[in-house]
Amino acid sequence: MAIIQNWLPPSRENWESICFVFQLFPLFTVVQWLVDWYPQGKTSRESRFNIPGKIGWAAMEAPGFITLVYIMFTLPGELGIRELPWGNWIMAGCFVLHYIYRALVAPLYLNPSMAPMHPIICVAALAFQLFNATSIGGWLAGYGPTTAQDWAGRSWSVEIGLVIWAWGLMGNIYHDDVLREIRRAAAGKQRQEAERLGERPSSVDKVYMLPEDGLFKHVLYAHYLCEWIEWAGFWMVGGWHCHPARTFLANEISTMLPRALQGKKWYEKKFGKDKVGDRKAVIPGVI
Ligand SMILES: NC(=O)c1ccc[n+]([C@@H]2O[C@H](COP(=O)([O-])OP(=O)(O)OC[C@H]3O[C@@H](n4cnc5c(N)ncnc54)[C@H](OP(=O)(O)O)[C@@H]3O)[C@@H](O)[C@H]2O)c1
Repeated sequence: MAIIQNWLPPSRENWESICFVFQLFPLFTVVQWLVDWYPQGKTSRESRFNIPGKIGWAAMEAPGFITLVYIMFTLPGELGIRELPWGNWIMAGCFVLHYIYRALVAPLYLNPSMAPMHPIICVAALAFQLFNATSIGGWLAGYGPTTAQDWAGRSWSVEIGLVIWAWGLMGNIYHDDVLREIRRAAAGKQRQEAERLGERPSSVDKVYMLPEDGLFKHVLYAHYLCEWIEWAGFWMVGGWHCHPARTFLANEISTMLPRALQGKKWYEKKFGKDKVGDRKAVIPGVI
């Protein structure tokens, strides 16, 4: 059953339009290079419109994987496809697994605290998610490979791509956790101090330190780098002709790179250039 006729799930014509428009996303991110205003995370600002960080992250990220799952289960029927090949389901599984972590497990269970965000960030990320899920979901659910024959002869690149994807995901989770550990340690210290003084422990909201473990020794946004590796592996699984996976990777880089460079300046201002040392923003030794 279609939720929105010809859009959810999308007709081929609408899917092609969505893929085309989404490819233009890097043009919108030019704003990020020109304007410093990015009211989220380290650079969040006081505003009466602000949304709590954890709720904001779950609300803006979860609709993506839910949309993809919905398309996977509805579009094949509309197109008269009886069974999608296993490769399509593996890619859908990779996508869903990542976003269960990113949209639900990380913000709602793992992260000790997340800075509030302006609704504009939430709306922009939600739009990104819906475009991306429709673009990838449409390809996986009927407009890309539809038979086992379409995957034939590709088992090496699928396997290597999956290994790269899995290492990228683990690296992303590990480096996210290095950041979490800073807040967990701060919370532990504040609890002890509060017990000693017989007071309530103060919050660890917006407690920041220079991360040192793993690739953070070389770059300040090691979690971003791992996420790019993850989605590069995903693209390899789909094959070079899998344009939705290529668009996804290009669009992530186009928005996360200026954010990481802005973050590097933020670290230098907060901790001093000497403490940051020769660490790059996101690619070791390069940028
Ligand atoms: N931002 C994007 O455009 C984007 C796009 C796609 C995927 N992602 C992925 O989403 C995840 C989160 O991205 P993000 O942009 O929110 O990353 P981030 O700014 O580095 O923040 C990640 C989390 O760690 C905390 N944190 C950051 N730096 C810290 C430090 N120096 N000391 C202690 N805690 C620190 C943040 O707390 P606060 O919230 O309090 O700052 C937040 O909870 C990453 O794994 C990234 O790969 C991000």
